[in-house]
Amino acid sequence: MRVLILGGDGYLGWPTAMYLSRRGHDVAVVDNYFRRRACIELNREPLVPVPNLHQRAALWEARSGFRVGVHIGDVCDYPFLRQIFREFQPEGVIHYAEQPAAPYSMMGHRQAIFTLTNNLVSTANVIYAVKETDINCHIVKLGTMGVYGTPNIDIEEGYLEVEHKGRKHTFLYPKTPGSLYHLTKAQDGDLLYFYCRMWGIRVTDLNQGPVYGIVTEESQQDERLYSIFNYDDIFGTVLNRFLVQAVAGVPLTVYGKGGQVRGYLNIKDTMACVELALLHPAAAGQYRVFNQFVETFSVNDLAARVQEAGRDLGLNVTIQNIPNPRLEAEEHYYNPAHTGLLALGLEPHYLNPAVLQAMLQLVQKYRGQIDEQLILPQVQW
Ligand SMILES: NC(=O)c1ccc[n+]([C@@H]2O[C@H](COP(=O)([O-])OP(=O)(O)OC[C@H]3O[C@@H](n4cnc5c(N)ncnc54)[C@H](O)[C@@H]3O)[C@@H](O)[C@H]2O)c1
Repeated sequence: MRVLILGGDGYLGWPTAMYLSRRGHDVAVVDNYFRRRACIELNREPLVPVPNLHQRAALWEARSGFRVGVHIGDVCDYPFLRQIFREFQPEGVIHYAEQPAAPYSMMGHRQAIFTLTNNLVSTANVIYAVKETDINCHIVKLGTMGVYGTPNIDIEEGYLEVEHKGRKHTFLYPKTPGSLYHLTKAQDGDLLYFYCRMWGIRVTDLNQGPVYGIVTEESQQDERLYSIFNYDDIFGTVLNRFLVQAVAGVPLTVYGKGGQVRGYLNIKDTMACVELALLHPAAAGQYRVFNQFVETFSVNDLAARVQEAGRDLGLNVTIQNIPNPRLEAEEHYYNPAHTGLLALGLEPHYLNPAVLQAMLQLVQKYRGQIDEQLILPQVQW
């Protein structure tokens, strides 16, 4: 399949490019280096420095024989994007090219407007590029479980059947996002759903939970092919932050009471999920939603697991509850459905002690590069 990956330099984009090319797909990536520039601007560099996208693609080709086409540019630049669609003629497009950090979106006016503009205009441009080049090109957009918030009823996969005054109708599941970033992920989903109904485009929205992990099968031989791995307060996801704190010998900082439950997945499962979605495309006019995670943990559970895994490696891991910088429920009901991707054949990786220890050992190799000042939260809302 010809697959265009938007946001192909990112934490998920680059490993996806290697994964899909190795599995025989014809892959091209687009990125404008927003993430790298933001990391430099905010002084939050990734743990392991990685070469630029052209260099990584050349390294990957030399090592594996698989080619990944590279295009540097902005998905919000419509003529640029349309030209790539015209030349490459993707059968599937994976849209990762958004501003993905809740704290970044809540820093101030400039970051808020950037997040809104970038995430919505990029999505609208993808929709138009599909409409103008090949209406059957399947859009796989990364969403987030964070769009649902923490309602006091079960979370379904995308839709909810409502009975009202004796009549029934199925609506998109109500969204209660907890940051502007998460709101834009609800809004880009609404845009896609709208154009499914108007133009009959094919869309899969993958409402993903926080991802953990650094290395995939494709990158394990060469650290220059690793994913961009942030452990800071803005771009680092919670488990990745905990792993680095454990190795640095500073307390794992649990926000508030730590009863916040979310659905998590290994970066290897993200790769498998996007390929499963591509291989089983949504029907014309279908806005299909999958909840993309494999198991749920509270923040306290995660901290305890990292503590235990660290103990077995001789690390003295401590845990500290700190005031929550976010407005969110710290104790709540949480029971989200996640059967769609399993039905397509997902074979999940689970977070067991061996997985945690392998990640801790990898972080230990880069111990000298950790700046622990970057982990404590500095953005509040
Ligand atoms: N990492 C997670 O835990 C997680 C969880 C849920 C959802 N997601 C979603 O998955 C997607 C990818 O996340 P990630 O963690 O890889 O983030 P990332 O920031 O590492 O990757 C996104 C990439 O897109 C690029 N980009 C952003 N705007 C662009 C634009 N206008 N034009 C071209 N390139 C652009 C960035 O430079 C970056 O390389 C995001 O949409 C995010 O919301 C991620």
